[in-house]
Amino acid sequence: MLMQIPDIGNFKYLLRRFPSDPLGPRIKKIRGSHLYTHSGEKLIDFTAGYSACLALGGSNRRIESAIKSQMRKYSFISALAFSNSKTAELAELLVRNAPTGLDRVMFPGCSGSEAIEAAMRMSYQVRVEQGQVSRSTFITRSNAYHGITASALSLTSTPVYEFFRPLQAKNVVFIPQHNYFEKAEVNESENEYAARSARELEAAIIATGPEKVTAFVAETMLGQLQGNVTPSGNYWMLVREICDRYGIHLILDEVYCGLGRSGKVYCCEWDGITPDFVAQGKQLSAGYGPISAVVTKSEFEEVIKAGKNRIFFASTYEAHPLAVVAAIEVQKIVQSDEMLEHVNSGNTLIMSHLTEGLEKHAFFKNVRGRGMLVSLEYDCLDRDLFNQDLERSMRYEYSVLLSANYHRTNFTPPSSTSLRDTERVITQYVETFRKCSLKYSPKKSVGL
Ligand SMILES: Cc1ncc(COP(=O)(O)O)c(C=O)c1O
Repeated sequence: MLMQIPDIGNFKYLLRRFPSDPLGPRIKKIRGSHLYTHSGEKLIDFTAGYSACLALGGSNRRIESAIKSQMRKYSFISALAFSNSKTAELAELLVRNAPTGLDRVMFPGCSGSEAIEAAMRMSYQVRVEQGQVSRSTFITRSNAYHGITASALSLTSTPVYEFFRPLQAKNVVFIPQHNYFEKAEVNESENEYAARSARELEAAIIATGPEKVTAFVAETMLGQLQGNVTPSGNYWMLVREICDRYGIHLILDEVYCGLGRSGKVYCCEWDGITPDFVAQGKQLSAGYGPISAVVTKSEFEEVIKAGKNRIFFASTYEAHPLAVVAAIEVQKIVQSDEMLEHVNSGNTLIMSHLTEGLEKHAFFKNVRGRGMLVSLEYDCLDRDLFNQDLERSMRYEYSVLLSANYHRTNFTPPSSTSLRDTERVITQYVETFRKCSLKYSPKKSVGL
């Protein structure tokens, strides 16, 4: 029998990522944390725009008016040849609340991938300028995602991208993922696990030869893919010490968890360390314009100045003026004490409601996260079907969009979502979880 091909109109001209999948919902407008679809639904978005970047939801008047007033002056002028005082203002905003010692900002392009790419290249350039040309290897952790450009993808070891391996850089060494919830041994404390995990880094440095390693690259906390896995105990302090001992740069990827999303401006503030480079993306403009940044140290600028006196990284739309003015307004809001306090209250609310509501449930494994980036981990038989049931029930019974995949449900609402809406959604989720779970059997869990 011939399959009925749905008429998708001029969407057929789009080369889509999943060409055979149905089209996603069409969005008419976004107001705060709510998406309004063309088919008349009003959905509260606990994915923050699917990519977790809509930290302030949609239609923020203050940001929109900043973009409009910039457009009246000019929309674009190349940052490669002209200076823009707004770009300097944004850099100052990123440095003002940065960990001590981070005092320079570069805007390498439109995406988090470019920020990672630029940090990697700058790390290597500093080595070359210092006469350490052999230091060209990067160490990173398995099962992370750092972006889609060539070097960033070389750090990414998720199975989906394995087929690109022949095209990826060879100078990358993988160590195991840092994940207390999955990898801790029975009765192993967070600090004991942190020490074991940090020793894996040190072992990799020694095996590679410290004189060949330029940087260790990692997310401060694991993001959407692994489900908001927080670092355990004093892990980052230990990593910082190891990097210092062997003269290795620490590049932190805060594209997902940075700039207020974790309840602190820089996620690594929770861990009390200063990295050498931090990549920022998504929350920099909270979806109001494509822009990313690398925050780093003036000592590297000095090295570059004394050497080739130029950074070998440039792109047409870097520091795009419209994205810059949007990001300035976003940063004033997301870095404010009120917003950080709100995000931390949101964390307490989500974590405590999920724990109290579900910790005795047979499927429950743990709840973890920072700020309004939280995950509930569970296990049962037919987990994929259970996830589909959860997502569908939340969407069609309560008009809530969230992501339930693999072993977890992620809760990543815009930071601006009210505590009232947050509490309502979590209460509905706990009820839905209990109801959907009746159709499934628990699975004997392994590890914690
Ligand atoms: C942790 C992390 N790093 C890097 C990236 C890449 O950012 P972009 O998609 O903006 O290139 C992402 C994107 O999801 C991310 O989550």
